Amino acid sequence: MIQTHLHDDVLEILLDNAPVNALGAGVRQAVAAAVDEAQSDARVRAIVIRGNGKLFSAGADITEFGKPLAHPSLPQVVDAIEASRKPVVAAIHGMALGGGLEVALGCHYRIATPKAKLGLPEVTLGILPGAGGTQRLPRLVGVEAALGMIVTGSPILGSKAAEIGLIDQLSTDESLAADALAFARTVDGPRRTGERNVSADPALFERFAIDNARAIKNLDAPKACIEAVKAAAELPLDKGQEKERALFTALVTGDQSKALRHVFFAERAAAKIEGLSKDVQLRPIARVGVIGAGTMGGGISMNFLSAGIPVTIVEMAQEALDRGAGLIRKNYEATAAKGRLTTEQVEKAVGLLNPTLDFGALDDCDLIIEAVYENMDVKKEIFARLDKVAKPGAILASNTSYLSIDEIASATARPQDVLGLHFFSPANIMKLVEVVRGAETAQDVLATGMDLARRIGKVPVVSGVCYGFIGNRMLIPRQENANALLLEGATPEQVDRVHTTFGMPMGPFQMADLAGVDIGWHRDASRIENVREALCAQGRWGQKTKAGYYDYDEKRKPTPSPVVAEIVQEFRQKSGITPREISDEEIVTRTLYTMVNEGAKILEEGIAQRASDIDVVWNYGYGWPRYKGGPMFWAEQVGLSHVVAALQKYENALGETFSLSPLLVRCAAEGKPLDRPDVR
Ligand code: CAA
Repeated sequence: MIQTHLHDDVLEILLDNAPVNALGAGVRQAVAAAVDEAQSDARVRAIVIRGNGKLFSAGADITEFGKPLAHPSLPQVVDAIEASRKPVVAAIHGMALGGGLEVALGCHYRIATPKAKLGLPEVTLGILPGAGGTQRLPRLVGVEAALGMIVTGSPILGSKAAEIGLIDQLSTDESLAADALAFARTVDGPRRTGERNVSADPALFERFAIDNARAIKNLDAPKACIEAVKAAAELPLDKGQEKERALFTALVTGDQSKALRHVFFAERAAAKIEGLSKDVQLRPIARVGVIGAGTMGGGISMNFLSAGIPVTIVEMAQEALDRGAGLIRKNYEATAAKGRLTTEQVEKAVGLLNPTLDFGALDDCDLIIEAVYENMDVKKEIFARLDKVAKPGAILASNTSYLSIDEIASATARPQDVLGLHFFSPANIMKLVEVVRGAETAQDVLATGMDLARRIGKVPVVSGVCYGFIGNRMLIPRQENANALLLEGATPEQVDRVHTTFGMPMGPFQMADLAGVDIGWHRDASRIENVREALCAQGRWGQKTKAGYYDYDEKRKPTPSPVVAEIVQEFRQKSGITPREISDEEIVTRTLYTMVNEGAKILEEGIAQRASDIDVVWNYGYGWPRYKGGPMFWAEQVGLSHVVAALQKYENALGETFSLSPLLVRCAAEGKPLDRPDVR
């Protein structure tokens, strides 16, 4: 867990717990013992703590949270380091995060590389820095800088840390170890951060909370972080630490932190492909082709351009090509105008784009992504052409949102090279990519798709082939029930409010208005069989026409629409439905529990590899609140038996096509979580 080396009169404690030097029980015991022994070892004048491998430490071992605490606790270790009678120097490279930075704060001096990342990201896990971080950081860098780091969780670079007084000296990766030893020999003795005082205007904390109200809305941890930092300005160290501990304990046992920790591990699990043979080699991807310069094709291209990968983008008409290429440039320039890109970066990215009308120009691409509209015949025709043009070994991908990758692959003589790469709109921003594995997709093609998605900063999730894959398939029962609820007596506002109160960025009708009510409409204004078709026939296509399920003003602010209320009323009469009072609980059951039920089917059919992958899809593709973990995690929190009972209660209203997932029913009855392979 650690190595100790005596370099003349300086003891070096090397944290050695790959891959990230997490501060689990073993590391804590070893560090505490080494510091303790050094106190009475006459050979030791000073101590240096450094990390072995690529970083100092990523902090507490998150897998230990929620389990009984093994002594010594991290706060005890940090206190022991600070109490050392011999000076202790932290030597930081790579990263010092969370408990890792708190260990460094317990040290009397800190030396770091300019590119090292120092941060307290606990808030993103629904907790606060619980090993004295909220008390020592403000004492060292002042309340304002500390609030910024602790409440946002964003790390800062070593160079910046030196500017604000968090770091005493900068060094390089090569000379850090030697510089730290030399530094340790020059210092007079301990210099304890906990003995410092810090003060702040009490109004500062309130102002900070107001300024950050949007970012911290609905979240427990940021508010607790502010309270803890306030304690640092008002109380002596030991009392402040007591406060910090009490807040930490309340957070770590709360539902939000459990959910956020679940999301942390779910994201990492999603990157893993079940059954992937160890010796699979990735296919090199140096140039990407994109077919279709529409909104999706353009957005997809930007991901690669931004990552420095050249893109050949193909369209059928010059006008569409010019519009698509122009939009890419405009998007980059808009980002530059906000100060997030330099002019050089814009030119570099745009310079990597090769817009062309020549389909044959795709012949040197290693990966080609088709992003044309959803029509199987069109897609099959494109893939048949691609089969002739693409070089051997090129990966052929479709960005289809619903259609069968297997059928698309059947248009080629190389179905092993075909997979789905389903990006979400706007594709240059949304993090999720469903990587769709066809029946014949080769292992190296799937692995390359996953790896590439990560290289361009996405969160990829493997999905099998089914209508709508993981995410959109789960939207189907949600939208069907939302539509039915409207006829039965609910309003779009009520259904949407239930979803936004739950924490979703928008509800089903707001989403329909944003995406376009006319998506998938048959375009025949004389054929009207439901409310949506009536809206489409009247040109109420959503936000883009300033009218959909809501009316919109110039600033796209929605108001309930009397026209929609009238259309709904007409359909009620036609269908002989007498509207009734719809409870919020019924909306939750019929629109959210039905999604959980569909997710369970997706799981038992093997479309998703694991329940947590479904959660990742909903977090990153649809804005499911991370502090509620994801639909499958949330269902387990609510209780699977409760979900099943509620669905049974409304079974008659759920339509003839509804059926309960046998897996869900079995897990609920047996009290087992959804993920267990033995229940699949
Ligand atoms: N505890 C336990 N396991 C951890 C961990 C931690 N703090 N940090 C990372 N890991 C694990 C990951 O789960 C992953 O495991 P698998 O290989 O089994 O999936 C492995 O280490 C490698 O991690 P990544 O895949 O994330 O590697 P990366 O190089 O992409 O990222 C990282 C490295 C930036 C450090 C990232 O892992 C990270 O952000 N870790 C969490 C940092 C954090 O939040 N620290 C605060 C912890 S809470 C705390 O310290 C509380 C306190 O005050 C007492």
